[in-house]
Amino acid sequence: MEILSVASEVYPLIKTGGLADVAGALPATLHTHGVTMRTLVPGYPSVMAKLGGGRVVKELDDLFGVSAKLIAARVEGLDVIVIDAPALYDRPGNPYVSPDGWDWPDNWKRFAALGWVAAELAMGLVEGYNPQVLHCHDWQAGLAPAYIKFGPRPDIKTVMTIHNIAFKGFFSADIFGQLRLPPQAFQVGGVEYYGGVSFLKSGMECADFVTTVSPNYADEIRTPEFGMGLEGLLNGRADTVVGILNGIDTTAWDPTTDPDLAQKFSANTLNLRQANKLALVEKFGLDGDDGPLFCVVSRLTDQKGMDLLLQVVDGLVDLGGRLVVLGSGESYLEDGFRRQSALHPGKVAIANGYNEALSHLMQGGADAIVIPSRFEPCGLTQLYALRYGCVPVVSRIGGLADTVINANPAAMAAEVATGVVFESNSSQALYDAIRKTVALYHDSKAWKRLQRRGMKSDVSWDASAARYADLYASITGLKSDDDPDR
Ligand code: ADP
Ligand code: GLC
Repeated sequence: MEILSVASEVYPLIKTGGLADVAGALPATLHTHGVTMRTLVPGYPSVMAKLGGGRVVKELDDLFGVSAKLIAARVEGLDVIVIDAPALYDRPGNPYVSPDGWDWPDNWKRFAALGWVAAELAMGLVEGYNPQVLHCHDWQAGLAPAYIKFGPRPDIKTVMTIHNIAFKGFFSADIFGQLRLPPQAFQVGGVEYYGGVSFLKSGMECADFVTTVSPNYADEIRTPEFGMGLEGLLNGRADTVVGILNGIDTTAWDPTTDPDLAQKFSANTLNLRQANKLALVEKFGLDGDDGPLFCVVSRLTDQKGMDLLLQVVDGLVDLGGRLVVLGSGESYLEDGFRRQSALHPGKVAIANGYNEALSHLMQGGADAIVIPSRFEPCGLTQLYALRYGCVPVVSRIGGLADTVINANPAAMAAEVATGVVFESNSSQALYDAIRKTVALYHDSKAWKRLQRRGMKSDVSWDASAARYADLYASITGLKSDDDPDR
């Protein structure tokens, strides 16, 4: 079976968050299930730089008014088709915003082009290439199912995966005339959303199947609190909506081989882990003491509950903890952590920016990672943490609740606990969880057992890749009649 994955990010070519990790890891695991997955991605500067060659499979004179080449290549273990359209994608900054932080005003066109090319590829744009399913990720790919539904080949199958329902790709109705969709697409059964155009809603409406990245988030987004206006749509098609839990690339994230660690280790050699903690303490200029070292590796945003964490930093330090933060995002949060590090020298430090290698060392050296999200479709950092013996302290929400088992007395006695779980959106609950984590840390036998159990949890893609493979098979009728929901 041949699937075209349509994504605005794919690791290691371009990454701003977990979507890239997922799009980057899925193809290899799907391969073991007899599925070939190619990824269609925009030719941002970092993608073009890593491409180094490839084959031009199509030239387009008029891709929304600009010229473009489609380049097929195998790069970093991935089969990709890159849209080389400098007028749309050759820009500084990240894929979505300019260096000064503003959304590019033509984002609608940049990502309509992504969806349009995807649909054309499925309809035979390149001779000899006939993917049977378009698997579209997040709003940036959300128009592809509409181009299929309202085009000449509505029989082609599409899957829409929601990684974050908060980003809807909403634009004013003015753009509709330029989308190359027929007039009837501007309706409730198409791209129309509250009088404008929503790319995410379009995908959710027009795709044959909708998935999201954890079972719990699939339930949450059917409610007004988390559905953010799209719960009605989801409830209306409930039998074709499913949550499939993300996994992680267990080769790239393996503490026994990770080149970014100061010291490699395994569940059987946990005491070696201390060398990574010392490396972190030194890197961040912290005091050396025997208290627990907490870390954060995150976008610094309200979604991630970082304002809640700022409220309890004093308490964390009073309890004998230290905190290292790696992240960037909203300036009031970046400033907040900088202020806390000035108030608590030797105890709190922030590394502002994006640093893949440092994120590995933090998972391998910190004692615990704090993830106080208000909503979290899946979350990957708690999965990396589990694999690296870094105890996750997470809010009971979304995929966090699906993947971490709270260290309550029953779970500790039953030897199943893997972390500390607390009620979301409460700084008091977060503080209590940190206090509980500090106490657990000082019971070194219980702590080691917690770490080891985490390291043994299955965070791989194995089970979930099989579910995607079953889903493709069931919607195309190509392989089996397995029901992905069972
Ligand atoms: P989201 O996609 O909502 O940001 P996830 O937990 O799914 O959250 O994925 C975040 C990904 O980005 C993880 O791979 C995490 O390690 C990485 N990440 C986040 N912030 C940074 C940073 N400042 N430096 C390096 N990696 C980061
Ligand atoms: C989004 C979500 C995150 C999820 C990631 C990958 O960025 O915020 O929870 O893990 O996508 O699916």
